[in-house]
Amino acid sequence: MGARRFRGVCGFFVWVGRFCVQFLNWQLAPARANRYAAAMTESDTTNPIHQAEVPADAPESGAEARWFGFTPVDPAEKAGLVRAVFDSVSERYDLMNDLMSAGVHRLWKATLMQLVRPQPGMTLLDVAGGTGDIALRFLEQGGGHVHICDINESMLRVGRDRAINKGVLSHIDWVTGDAERLPIASRSVDAYTIAFGLRNVSGIDAALAEARRVLKPGGRFFCLEFSHVVLPLLREVYDAYSFTILPKIGGFVAGDEAAYRYLVESIRKFPDQDSLARRVAAAGFGQVRYRNLTGGIAAIHSGWRL
Ligand SMILES: C[S@@+](CC[C@H](N)C(=O)[O-])C[C@H]1O[C@@H](n2cnc3c(N)ncnc32)[C@H](O)[C@@H]1O
Repeated sequence: MGARRFRGVCGFFVWVGRFCVQFLNWQLAPARANRYAAAMTESDTTNPIHQAEVPADAPESGAEARWFGFTPVDPAEKAGLVRAVFDSVSERYDLMNDLMSAGVHRLWKATLMQLVRPQPGMTLLDVAGGTGDIALRFLEQGGGHVHICDINESMLRVGRDRAINKGVLSHIDWVTGDAERLPIASRSVDAYTIAFGLRNVSGIDAALAEARRVLKPGGRFFCLEFSHVVLPLLREVYDAYSFTILPKIGGFVAGDEAAYRYLVESIRKFPDQDSLARRVAAAGFGQVRYRNLTGGIAAIHSGWRL
């Protein structure tokens, strides 16, 4: 057997192994939840989830607010629809991430962390932080303090369970809040990350303006997001997979096929790499750049708050 084939076969078995571990995790989750119930009750007082006040002068939502995937919607309804999607899938969210990307989202997040370069004295704000994947990596890799902000309390609760399971109780704040109206002081954080979150906000430009507001001068903005595939052959395979197979997996595993159809549609409606880079620059960031990941399936945009 050639070396390439051997590596391919090994890779397949590693993937199957990972799937089995995730499956067991999922099956054991209810038992573990009971075991940690006591810790959760205690952590409700020691590690609370903060509720954000919405300021009266909140910025207007953008054009994105008129679309929920491919469906035109009333802008006033968009945030509620997005919230319902993540409420519905929060318990199976992490498993689904591994299944639908065959674990590749972990490599993308590792690349993001290499760019963020966590340091002991550094404060990160992770917006749309969900179940805490980015925040936990930041702390594991030596970061100082992290605020996780997400509009969905259900996602944060799953994330906080995960953090408790890993013994992470300090240097981390869980805050409910909207990316467009962050409950965070101006010029207070060294880095801002938003991973697979900007696609879901109603006003991208308002969220970018908020990112700039909360960053200290010299701080850096990072957005990891699904993007537009730049390799024609890969685009065809990816389209076929994402429009047909992926929603079925979502229906089978997370019990919500429509939520994963929204995911696919929202990716197609999201600005391409260059358009997003222009909008990041228009928000006032300097040295804006992006890096394609896996042929543009995802991309990391970054910019400095000068
Ligand atoms: C696809 S998940 C990403 C979670 C996490 N960042 C990750 O990489 O695994 C998208 C998250 O965005 C959150 N979200 C959607 N709209 C938001 C908004 N306007 N402000 C803050 N969070 C939002 C959802 O609740 C959800 O947790």
